[in-house]
Amino acid sequence: MGRHIHFEEEVTSTQKIAHNLASEGAEEGTIVVSEQQSSGRGRLSRVWYSPKHTGIWMSLILRPQIPLSQTPQLTLLAAVAIVQAIEEVTTLKPDIKWPNDILVNGKKLVGILTELQAEADRVHSVIIGMGINVNHDQDHFPTDLQDIATSIAIEAGEKADRAELIQQILLKFEVLYNLYLSKGFKPIKLLWESYAISLNKTVVARTLHGSLTGKAIGINEDGVLLLETESGNIEKIYSADIEVKS
Ligand code: BTN
Repeated sequence: MGRHIHFEEEVTSTQKIAHNLASEGAEEGTIVVSEQQSSGRGRLSRVWYSPKHTGIWMSLILRPQIPLSQTPQLTLLAAVAIVQAIEEVTTLKPDIKWPNDILVNGKKLVGILTELQAEADRVHSVIIGMGINVNHDQDHFPTDLQDIATSIAIEAGEKADRAELIQQILLKFEVLYNLYLSKGFKPIKLLWESYAISLNKTVVARTLHGSLTGKAIGINEDGVLLLETESGNIEKIYSADIEVKS
């Protein structure tokens, strides 16, 4: 991972550049990193706040030979790699909220955006975008993010070395990805579950089609969240914002 690095001072979105590179045939493990994004993209068409010099804004190109339905597994794998890297470089012990939020003290530290390029029903490439708030001060965040976002510097009380963190993320990712390719999703699922805060809790899942409340009883083999509703039905949640209730 990271043998080919495209470093840019400013881009619209590292995702956009990574998509272009992937279309042009960039090798698996190629990364795009930028100091700043003018149109950072979040999930569900949101904007991702990406100020200069204080975060990690990075996209990683993968070319796994897996069916499209299994690509959510890679988001969960990326979340585990980032948590392990943060634990290695800082004193923090982050939690993962399904599918892809990494939180410390209930506030969001990291967002992951997985996007696909497909050929028929096969994966052409997967672009994993990682946004990590590293050295922002609290008053650095726009007002609408003040109460819900945080950074490593705020939580750990000291700044972290972004280059070291990137290096650790790529190292951890590579180990987990090789494990995944050789042994499948099971070992990754176990690791992910050990960091997950939403499991066995009552959660509200807000999807594009409305809200659903239930107990998050686990994830299935594709990385999809399983929600047991009051009526006892098990619903599969493919994409949603999750609020953990109790
Ligand atoms: C989320 O909404 O939680 C996902 C946020 C993902 C942000 C990262 S920053 C690097 C990459 N480039 C983007 O435009 N988005 C992702």
